[in-house]
Amino acid sequence: MKSHRLKNNSIEPTEEYKDIIENAPDVICRVDKMLCLTYINPIIKELIGIEQHNLIGKPIASLTFGGENYTAIWLENLQKVFAAKQKLFFKAPCIYKGNTYYFQVYMSPALDSNGLVESVICVSRNITEQKQFDAELARLDRLNLVGKIAASIGHEVRNPLTTVRGFLQMLDKREKTNKNHEYYQMMIGELDRANALLSEFLTLAKDKPLLLKPANLNSIITSIYPLLKADARANNKDLTLKLDTIDNILLDEKEIRQLIFNIVQNGIEASPPNSIVTIRTFMNKKNVVLAIEDFGTGIPQPILEKLGTPFLTTKENGTGLGLAVCYKIAKNHNAVISPSTGANGSTFYVKFEKCSL
Ligand SMILES: Nc1ncnc2c1ncn2[C@@H]1O[C@H](COP(=O)(O)OP(=O)(O)OP(=O)(O)O)[C@@H](O)[C@H]1O
Ligand SMILES: [Mg+2]
Repeated sequence: MKSHRLKNNSIEPTEEYKDIIENAPDVICRVDKMLCLTYINPIIKELIGIEQHNLIGKPIASLTFGGENYTAIWLENLQKVFAAKQKLFFKAPCIYKGNTYYFQVYMSPALDSNGLVESVICVSRNITEQKQFDAELARLDRLNLVGKIAASIGHEVRNPLTTVRGFLQMLDKREKTNKNHEYYQMMIGELDRANALLSEFLTLAKDKPLLLKPANLNSIITSIYPLLKADARANNKDLTLKLDTIDNILLDEKEIRQLIFNIVQNGIEASPPNSIVTIRTFMNKKNVVLAIEDFGTGIPQPILEKLGTPFLTTKENGTGLGLAVCYKIAKNHNAVISPSTGANGSTFYVKFEKCSL
């Protein structure tokens, strides 16, 4: 980048390159030996609403709009480039107005006539969408693999379980003194638990036929509401409904019941005693949206990034299949699940793409 120095020590690109740099979609800037910004292109105004001339001349250490951690990473890497005279590249999360964005930053030393590093040229690209896309691909890949395993072994494991259960029931009835009745019941209970787990696991299987029929999400919610409410009450929490009038869409009723059940269950488990979990439905630009909101402690970032991965759990007795099943069901319905979470709780939005009935 050819450039010339201005009065206030800022460095402007020469006319021949100015157009290119000023219209670039990436943030391009130059930092001098004092670790002050000597140039930044105008895209920064679109990103953070601050004019470039209000930033030029400022020490990098004072620019904390991306979070103090992001500034610290910048300073550390700038110092490395000045010291090692080498290009470097890093990716870092930048927290702006409560949202996390990911930036990929290239830093390259600009040498003076003596071969010393005069300044560092930095190009930062917003890769937030790419990162989300990669994470989604990786998650789908894992789901696909688990689906295949589930399909091949699920039934094989279930058959012997059913046989053993049958014999246990028979022995339980035969026992004259019935002194072992309690143990038989315990064994049968454990087998039923294993069977329930397998059923959930099998929902992940690829080849399960879908029964999509025009239906109203509100009717499904109302039909399972008493069950969900009883479950919430048993845990000293409550459940409310806020259902707007919504269009009918193509749904597999059994699957949707499972999806609502799993997300509500998580909401109840995350909520403090006496708080309320709310199930809402509404239309958003012709799309039906289901939102399940809780007042729990929120989902930590490392868990949030991997939500939907089979066997991911933070609970002592959790299996970590609940959300994996939900993501699979959402995919079957051409719906997208987007969690929104913070210190005051979480909301899981399930947005069903508009479909013609
Ligand atoms: N509403 C929520 N609030 C806080 N954390 C949540 C919420 N929903 C999910 N999580 C986190 O995501 C993890 C995965 O959830 P998932 O439902 O897949 O599994 P699980 O609830 O742990 O086990 P199970 O298979 O019994 O549902 C949970 O262990 C929890 O850490
Ligand atoms: Mg769960």
